[in-house]
Amino acid sequence: MNDFKPGLEGVVAVETEIAEPDREGGILRYRGVDIEELVGHYPYENVWGLLVDDDLDSVMPEPEPHVPAGLTGNAPADLQAETARLGGEWRLGKLNEISDDQAREDLGRLSSQMMGIVARSARVADGKSDEVPANVVAQGETAAEKFLLQWRGEADPNAVKAIDTYWICTAEHGLNASTFTARVVASTGADCGAALSSAVGALSGPLHGGAPAYVKPMLEEVSAMGDPEKWVSDTLDSGKRIMGFGHRVYRAEDPRSRILKRTARELGSPQIEVAEELEEAALTELERRHPERPLKTNVEFYSALVLDVAQIPPPLAPAMFACSRVAGWSAHILEQKRTGRLFRPSARYVGPAPRSLSTR
Ligand code: COA
Repeated sequence: MNDFKPGLEGVVAVETEIAEPDREGGILRYRGVDIEELVGHYPYENVWGLLVDDDLDSVMPEPEPHVPAGLTGNAPADLQAETARLGGEWRLGKLNEISDDQAREDLGRLSSQMMGIVARSARVADGKSDEVPANVVAQGETAAEKFLLQWRGEADPNAVKAIDTYWICTAEHGLNASTFTARVVASTGADCGAALSSAVGALSGPLHGGAPAYVKPMLEEVSAMGDPEKWVSDTLDSGKRIMGFGHRVYRAEDPRSRILKRTARELGSPQIEVAEELEEAALTELERRHPERPLKTNVEFYSALVLDVAQIPPPLAPAMFACSRVAGWSAHILEQKRTGRLFRPSARYVGPAPRSLSTR
C-alpha cells in the first residue's frame, strides 16, 4: 500500500472552523468572513478577536508591563526565546491541566506581549538602548500604531496602514507549517508559551515566513540589471527559486497577494513598477517551465513592498509575520485543546536490514 505522503501534502489531519484557503476560488475567509471585508474596516486586534473568539467585537488585550530579559536585535530569535521564557516567568499552566478560558487568557496575554517583544528587538537592532515611555506607546489607537510607537517613538499613518493591512492579510492560513507546529506542541499538553514559541521557530525559514526578506534584494538586482526576463531565466537556470511564487495550497490567485498589491499601489510603493515587471516575467517563465503545476504570485511577494512602505528592514520580515500569525496560532491552539488528539504520524522504515555487530 502506497500511503507515504512526503510533506503530508493532501493529508487531512484536523477539522477546523477557523479558516481554510479556497484552493481554486482565490478567496480567503476567516470564520466565514472574506478578508476583503475586514481590511480597512476593522483593525488587526479585532480580527484577532474574530479568529480566536469568533467575535469581531472581542479584541486582543492590551499588553501588560513586562521587561524582556535580554534582547539581541535578531527579532525572530528574540521572539522565540522570550515567548518560551514567558511560559516560565508567568507560570503558565499546561494545556491539558487548565480550562479553555484560562488558555484563552494566556494566549491573549502572550499575543500582545509578542508584538511588544518584536518592537523592542527592532529598536535594539536600530542601535537604541533606551525604551519608549509607556505613556507615548499608550497614545496609539491601534495595535499597529502602538507597535510603531514602541519601536520608533513615532507612527507615520501610511506605515500604520501598511502594517495593519499586512497583519490582517497574514493573520491565519489553515494548517501551514508553523500552525501545524503550534498544534503538534499544543497536542502534547505543553503550555501556550511553548506552543507559540515553537511556531515562531517554524516560521523563521525562507520557505515559509522568511521569503519577503529575499524579495527586496531580488527587486534591487532586477532594477540594476534592467532586464526582468533575463534575470528570471538566469535565476531558474542556476537552479534557484524565485521568492514570492508558488504555493502548496493555491492553484488560483492568492487573494492576499491581490490586496497587498493594491495596498502597495495606494501607499505609493517606489518599487511597484519593477515588481509588476518581474511578476509578469516570472509568471510567464514559470508557466513555460512547469505547465503541470500552477506557480502563481504568493502572499510574500507584495508583502515585501507593503512592509517596505513602513520601512521594515528585510531581516525583520519573519518576525512581522509572526506578529500577525499569533492570531491564527492562538485560535488553532484553542481548537486543538478543545477538539484535538495527540499527533503521532508514522514513519516507514527504509534503513538497513537487521544485522549483527558480531560480524564487524
Ligand atoms: N521558483 C522556481 N521554481 C519553483 C518555485 C519558485 N518559487 N516554486 C516551486 N518551484 C518548482 C520546484 O523547483 C519544483 O520543480 P521540479 O519539480 O522541477 O523540481 C516544482 O516547482 C514543485 O516544487 P515543490 O517544492 O514541490 O512545490 P511546493 O508546492 O512544495 O512548494 C513553496 C511550495 C512555497 C515551498 C515553493 O513554491 C517555494 O519554494 N516558493 C518560494 C518560496 C516562497 O515564496 N515561500 C513563501 C510561501 S507563502
